[in-house]
Amino acid sequence: MISRLKEVTMEEIPDITSDLIEKLKKMNISSVYQLAVQNPIELAKEYEDTSLNVESASTLIANARKILIESGALTNEFSTADEVLEKRNKLSRYATGSESFDDLLNGGFESQAITELAGEFGSGKSQVCHTLCVAASKLIKNDPDEDAGNIIFIDSVNTFRADRVHQIAEQRGLDPLPILEKIYHCQVYSSKHLESVIDDLDKSIEQYNAKLVIIDSIISLHRAEFSGRGSLAERQQKLGKMLNKLRRYADIYNIAVVITNQVVSYPDGMHPGFDSMKAAGGNIVAHGLTYRIFLKKSGKNRVATIFDSPSQPFQHAKFSISESGIQDATSYKTDGSDSAW
Ligand SMILES: Nc1ncnc2c1ncn2[C@@H]1O[C@H](COP(=O)(O)OP(=O)(O)O)[C@@H](O)[C@H]1O
Ligand SMILES: [Mg+2]
Repeated sequence: MISRLKEVTMEEIPDITSDLIEKLKKMNISSVYQLAVQNPIELAKEYEDTSLNVESASTLIANARKILIESGALTNEFSTADEVLEKRNKLSRYATGSESFDDLLNGGFESQAITELAGEFGSGKSQVCHTLCVAASKLIKNDPDEDAGNIIFIDSVNTFRADRVHQIAEQRGLDPLPILEKIYHCQVYSSKHLESVIDDLDKSIEQYNAKLVIIDSIISLHRAEFSGRGSLAERQQKLGKMLNKLRRYADIYNIAVVITNQVVSYPDGMHPGFDSMKAAGGNIVAHGLTYRIFLKKSGKNRVATIFDSPSQPFQHAKFSISESGIQDATSYKTDGSDSAW
């Protein structure tokens, strides 16, 4: 889809004027895709005068979507189920580096979806992200026009290590340099910074031809900065807004979004199997995601559990972490940890 980005121009949007195009450009909205992912309420609010109200902004965004549909870049508002299936068959998947983990995801991290990796400190979330940076060079695609594109890695916990990516690539017999050159790393320092990076991610996706966006972690800065009970509602609203945007980007740009999340403990024992741990962020986060995976230590290995998916049952995969990143667990029975499932 990215390769077709430049094919439709702003001038082709019905009823658009050159004045309007100029003003949108000043707001940093310079492509039909960027317009199509806008929220009409925000667009009207940020517009420089009152000539664009919520209603006319909605029409404008709808017209942008319409020409993307007409150009074949987006599917129709209403599609027959066989067309929906055809669209699904064109999804790309990014290999994780572990076959059993890939199986858990029906082949890998999926485009047009947000996948969450939740787990305690040390459970392997960042290691999965680092291995993905290397393994993603193997794109599992059904659409021959699709290219692997580049990766945007948004790091809010300061744990991205280029040398670790280098090591994983080398251990897997791959040339590290071309892999490192495909990763656009962005260090974020505050919740506001993260929000603004996500607000502008449409431009970054286009600029860097990104097909995979990794956010490690989506919630840590907001959790730290909005910690009191009184600020919970505001934090949830901000998280909801970020996920909403990410969902639109995933859909319109046909990209895979992978986010990591922390856990909270539920000492009531209501969540068996997760040691009374639950992914943070409550319903707002839960509803904003397509696939949810819980990572857990299990002796020397790790267990990944997919506990929310539109099409898969609750199931586990075992993997281990080594110099070559994550891979299938081989001798997990020897440490007697199998009962930890
Ligand atoms: N080079 C390596 N070789 C083997 N194991 C490693 C290596 N690097 C990290 N690990 C393992 O990964 C764990 C940290 O996982 P990480 O992904 O950082 O956790 P999380 O992001 O969930 O907090 C460490 O405890 C260690 O066991
Ligand atoms: Mg981490």
